[in-house]
Amino acid sequence: MSTAEAVAATSTPADPWSSWLRSRADVRARRGLERRADPPEPGTPSSDVVDLAANDYLGLAAHPDVRAAAARVATEGPVGARASRVVTGTHPAHADLESAAAALAGADAALAFSSGYTANLGVLGALAGPGTAFLLDEHAHASLRDGAALAATARSGAFTSLPGASVTTVEHNSVPAFRAALDRLRAEGRARRIVLVVESLYSVLGDEADLPALAALAAEHGALLVVDEAHSLGVVPGGSRAGALGLWAGQAPVVVTATCSKALGGQGGLALFGGPDAQSWRDHVLNTARTFVFDTALAPVLAASAAAACRIAATGEPAARLARARETAVDVLTRRPELAGHVEVGAGAVHSIRMPGPEQAVAAAAELRAHGVLVGCFRPPSVPDGVARLRVSVTTAVPEPRLRAALEAVASVAARAWGASTGCPFSHGDPRPEAVRGDHLRISDPADLRRVLTDPGTFASDNALTAVVPLSGPARRILAAARFRLPPVLAFAGGEEHRAVRRVVAPFFSPAKVREARGRILATTRTALTAALADTGRAGGAVDLATTVAAAVPARVMSALTGVPNPPEAQLHRWSADSLELFWGWPDEDRQLRLARSAADFHRWLRGAVVEARGDDAQPGNLFAALHEAGVDDERIVSLGYFLVIAGQETTRLLISTALTRALADPARWAALGAGADGGAGADAAEAAAAELVAECLRTSSSVPTWRRLATADVRVGEHEIRAGDELLLHLSGEQHDDARLAFGFGLHRCLGAGLAELETALVVREVARLLPGARLTGPPATWLRLLSFQAPQHVLVTPGPWHGGEDTRIEQSGVDACASRS
Ligand code: HEM
Repeated sequence: MSTAEAVAATSTPADPWSSWLRSRADVRARRGLERRADPPEPGTPSSDVVDLAANDYLGLAAHPDVRAAAARVATEGPVGARASRVVTGTHPAHADLESAAAALAGADAALAFSSGYTANLGVLGALAGPGTAFLLDEHAHASLRDGAALAATARSGAFTSLPGASVTTVEHNSVPAFRAALDRLRAEGRARRIVLVVESLYSVLGDEADLPALAALAAEHGALLVVDEAHSLGVVPGGSRAGALGLWAGQAPVVVTATCSKALGGQGGLALFGGPDAQSWRDHVLNTARTFVFDTALAPVLAASAAAACRIAATGEPAARLARARETAVDVLTRRPELAGHVEVGAGAVHSIRMPGPEQAVAAAAELRAHGVLVGCFRPPSVPDGVARLRVSVTTAVPEPRLRAALEAVASVAARAWGASTGCPFSHGDPRPEAVRGDHLRISDPADLRRVLTDPGTFASDNALTAVVPLSGPARRILAAARFRLPPVLAFAGGEEHRAVRRVVAPFFSPAKVREARGRILATTRTALTAALADTGRAGGAVDLATTVAAAVPARVMSALTGVPNPPEAQLHRWSADSLELFWGWPDEDRQLRLARSAADFHRWLRGAVVEARGDDAQPGNLFAALHEAGVDDERIVSLGYFLVIAGQETTRLLISTALTRALADPARWAALGAGADGGAGADAAEAAAAELVAECLRTSSSVPTWRRLATADVRVGEHEIRAGDELLLHLSGEQHDDARLAFGFGLHRCLGAGLAELETALVVREVARLLPGARLTGPPATWLRLLSFQAPQHVLVTPGPWHGGEDTRIEQSGVDACASRS
């Protein structure tokens, strides 16, 4: 084939659009992300359907007064507005809606739009200009995100970013995260005007924003607060949260947006203004909101029906009935033990049930639909945290007994989905999403693994910390701005560079040091367990061993062995979990931004710790100081610290969670592990049982089930023809293995913390079993964290039963040393 023919064949496909359409449809189907807008099931009379998917919370869509208002306008004049209000003027129904809506919300002025979506696009667009910075809650509705993105774009000529304009998403419902983002903007010094964008009541989780704190924060920074009250207008006492909280009388300017299509049961959007500048804000938005100026106005029939709905809602009676319906929902959904931890009870009408995955969510919604119950089915990408959910919106349109029965059906179908899908992660196969499966060559035969691991020349470890999904430009920019760098060191270095550093690190975890740590491990276990049990009273009886004991022990022991102090533990665990997901998970672009910010903060903290460690008053026995002494530069020490927090703490925390889950699943095994208290009879057998448990976990379901290598040459290994550049996924643990030792690797890079991790896991399980012999797993089986190279149950929820530690319950006060001396 000639070059021209080859170019023609490859670069001008006959119809690139139809193949693109097909591939997009395939991807949606494979990921269970197809959406449909089907008519109701044929043959089901609508009166037999209980609709918990719609947003008609107050049952006003079919209210006789609301329908009559629309009918009156329809018989008197044209149905549609026929043009924008800046062209044909304001219909009396528009003015009526604006005054009724302002009265309902406690606002001083209002402006009606053709929908809630266009209200958000219009209002945020009206705030645009060079130097306008938008900070959005990461769960903000698509219309707010689109509005901010458009607002930051210059529309004259080419579509480019407005100079100095920016859009940043901020961790969900976190006032400290907003504060940190504001501080960052201030430090950068580019933003001239700042807009905080939140929802009053979020549509998926149903949780409320802390509006007073956000308004105070906005006032402190001279920012404007935009609050979308789509889900709260008419539902909350006082009509709107902004009005009820007196936000318009505060220091910060506040603009509220809302929709007439949810609690008001109709169609249309609203911008609401209050305070001394209310009329100026309304004039500004009327003149500059493109979706007001250039869009045909809201149809007068719809404006009239929405005005009538506002007046009914303003009586407060529908909201009081909704509060009773909400109580029914909370009662039904939170009573099922199988759903414990999966129900997100909303502050308003909306409640969510987390589902194991998108496929289960779709199947559950379909099953319910077949039984005449409609629920919302939310899946990525509509859920920013990647968790699929069923959403129920309670409504006064359904009488109490039918509502209760429908909710029981929802709870029962969701509970079944959970029961069917939990357990050992390997029973579900490969955790990798389809899109990244082709990226790795799987090696699982133990002989092949050993062959690869003993030849670091051909199989380099350079890719140990390569992100599984390429990081987006904005995420990389966040990391670059924070000087986040991970130069090769130890686990992802080779040759002398690797050996020299390993020689410095190894003595910190020598067998003697690990033996000496025994007392500290036991003491820390008891301290952490006591603290967790003290909290249990407050949390209603169950204790989560994964987030308490399993998290605390490796962190505190590592700090003691390395001499490097820990940041606050909650912060440390958040940073570790975020970094695990950033590099070994498959976060979408939005989530990458949040994770990258977290990784950047972590890296910044590590840099500070390194500087401190090599200062004049450096403590002897500090690992960072020892590396500095050995000539390792600061950047490499930080890089090593970053790896060690993940390798030394998270991996062990995850293994302890797995081991506890396995042990607790079998009461006889739990009893055997707790036997031989105080070195009494049975202690040897208990020790052997713990060693066997740890080996079993490492062999079949280790916290690090895979590790990666990069081939540097073409080579054959067993059945595999490997090419230079191939990325190998080494299955170090799984049902096929008979040797637990492979879980820590093999050869030159074998884990330096293997002995410590094994000892910590065995001692923690034994000590918890000894102190809480009656502990039993409770709630539905835990969901598993499943990343490319890390896995474990997310929770180990137990009812603790009686404490068998005698006076040890006061261990919190007596401290670690007293406990250590006991062992
Ligand atoms: C359950 C707990 C743990 C598991 C499953 C685990 C697993 C692994 C694996 C699979 C490797 C890679 C081996 C290779 O590339 O060939 C590794 C390396 C490493 N691990 Fe662990 N690890 C655990 C706990 C720890 C602890 C507690 C420490 C603390 C010292 C630690 C420190 C290291 C280091 C420093 C390396 C790199 C060694 C080198 O490249 O020379 N690990 N670990």
